[in-house]
Amino acid sequence: MNSNKANRGLTTKPKTRILRLDASANTGASDSSKLADKLIRQIRLRGQEIEVRSRDLNLAAPFIDGSWIEANFTAADDRSATQNQVLGLSDRLIGELNWADHIVLATPMYNFGVPATLKAWIDQVCRAGVTFRYTENGPEGLLAGKSADIVITTGGAPLGSAVDFVSGYLKQVFAFIGIDATNIFGADQMNRDAQSSIARAQAQIDQTYPAAATQEMA
Ligand SMILES: Cc1cc2nc3c(=O)[nH]c(=O)nc-3n(C[C@H](O)[C@H](O)[C@H](O)COP(=O)(O)O)c2cc1C
Repeated sequence: MNSNKANRGLTTKPKTRILRLDASANTGASDSSKLADKLIRQIRLRGQEIEVRSRDLNLAAPFIDGSWIEANFTAADDRSATQNQVLGLSDRLIGELNWADHIVLATPMYNFGVPATLKAWIDQVCRAGVTFRYTENGPEGLLAGKSADIVITTGGAPLGSAVDFVSGYLKQVFAFIGIDATNIFGADQMNRDAQSSIARAQAQIDQTYPAAATQEMA
């Protein structure tokens, strides 16, 4: 059953701005990236006008450190020029999220979780007062009106199993910053039968983003 729902947001806008994020260290030969290629092609095939900006997360973000945390917890008006500089990359990465209507994230599972490069990006973009805030009712995400497609590949671990610390985690992180409408596309257990895993994910993509009839025939 396909419970994906985020694509509904893509049908209403005349032009959709897509931020694409690739987390595999295996750049050039990544299966998750190839599936993201297909997914974006499929969105185009629906006749959807899109603009895509891409970020290779291998090159995106250093780990946050003490000076980053201090700068982040200093009120924006009180920050020194150095502190603003320390947060400069985080501001740019958040700016990319703000720019986008839709996020396409492609990631493999590494050691039951997300690659460290993706975790580094997450730490850079989850910022109190900027992408979420604390309220009396708990934290509230501030990136409203966006949706996301998350492509996940694994070697042996089944997605949704007790050792999958990727899909639930990523859904939570996106929801935390206000992006509730997330689709998960999984090519899991690639080591068993890669072809079937890929075919399953491709079918899931086709089902979520069926091509417009006129385009299919072209
Ligand atoms: C460093 C590393 C750690 C991995 N850890 C896991 C793991 O914990 N569980 C798993 O099922 N697969 C694991 N894999 C396998 C990858 O998730 C799998 O090969 C995936 O298809 C790679 O996707 P990609 O082609 O987009 O890089 C690991 C692969 C690497 C390179």
